[in-house]
Amino acid sequence: MAWNTLDNMDMDGKNVLIRVDVNVPCENGKVLDATRLDRIAPTVLEVLAKGGKPILLSHFGRPTRGFDLALSTQQVVPALAHVLNRRVHFASSCIGQVARDSVETLPDGDVLLLENTRFHAGETRNDRGFAKDLAALGDIYVNDTFSTAHRAHASVAAIAELLPSCAGRLMEEELSALTAALSKPERPVLAVIGGSKVSSKLELLRHLIGPMDQIVIGGGMANTFLAALGHNVGQSLCEHDMQDTARAILEEAKADNCEIILPLDVVTAREFKEFAENQTVAADACPRDSMILDAGQKSIENICKHLDQVKTVIWNGPLGAFEIPPFNIATDTVALKVAELTEDEKILSVAGGGDTVAALKKSGAADSFSYISTAGGAFLEWMEGKTLPGVAVLIDSAAST
Ligand code: 3PG
Repeated sequence: MAWNTLDNMDMDGKNVLIRVDVNVPCENGKVLDATRLDRIAPTVLEVLAKGGKPILLSHFGRPTRGFDLALSTQQVVPALAHVLNRRVHFASSCIGQVARDSVETLPDGDVLLLENTRFHAGETRNDRGFAKDLAALGDIYVNDTFSTAHRAHASVAAIAELLPSCAGRLMEEELSALTAALSKPERPVLAVIGGSKVSSKLELLRHLIGPMDQIVIGGGMANTFLAALGHNVGQSLCEHDMQDTARAILEEAKADNCEIILPLDVVTAREFKEFAENQTVAADACPRDSMILDAGQKSIENICKHLDQVKTVIWNGPLGAFEIPPFNIATDTVALKVAELTEDEKILSVAGGGDTVAALKKSGAADSFSYISTAGGAFLEWMEGKTLPGVAVLIDSAAST
């Protein structure tokens, strides 16, 4: 795979359109987590250092009927200015005269953020006309948003065919970390896959059976597998209609020499609430009136024992109801083990996905992972082996230059 990078582009005196992802959690106009903004700073600052004028394009949320004040990108301007330590100007439209005037009057050394691209229907339709309106604002296009690379949207896909295009530093970083963990991992390689539903991770599990040596299945998904093995799961979250599928996955994994690691014991409670009275039982002994909320101590030890033997770990999804203590213990303990092995340079560890990153941050393990992706859905689709339109178009554009 090859794409152009900032190194291949002459930016001096050029208007550089940078597709970023400023879709960050906000409340009452205040940014609650600026991680994504921190991560786009290197590209924006490098463009400035090379004499380019950074014009930032982004979506925010999922507007359904054009302009919606609550989803204006304007609310991230102060946080962005703080992260970049530069003046950030705002254009109240991402196309047309307003946008053109803002680009023309942008002082050297400053940054321009355009209004939410999704306020225009052409964005999500990947409309070429809308992409042309965007492209008219710049000389060069930089895609620095792996987290939206799974969307065939105009500011991600169509625009890259209209201007000399390249990947930004964050995009490059994401692609090389994911390639190292998934496409060319040092073996043995183990995946930790958690989350509530098998149905939402079915394609992922199927795709991982080939490249992975071991897959730890945790969270609510594991209950469906336990039920498929004939175990009673009581009142647990469980997709009973997916039991055949779960059995088929176990068969496929066996045929492919991929070891599936399921809980040996489970923490159960009668209520889903913080510090609910709970007991740890064998994985086949969940009481009928209780639900499984976490993996037990034996399961944790078993996972850690496997982790000691591998070279690469890729993680998506929590192992239990990590939001409500004490059902965060399996997720936290295993995350801290991965962090320790990473710090000791025994493994390469990569994690991604909305809930995953929240869980790893909460456990205090996130900073020690080799790489934490900023992507949610795109990380999942990459792990599923799908072609991401935003990446494909960068590769095509590099091939044609
Ligand atoms: C994300 O938060 O995962 C990205 O910003 C993409 O958002 P979307 O799922 O609304 O396309």
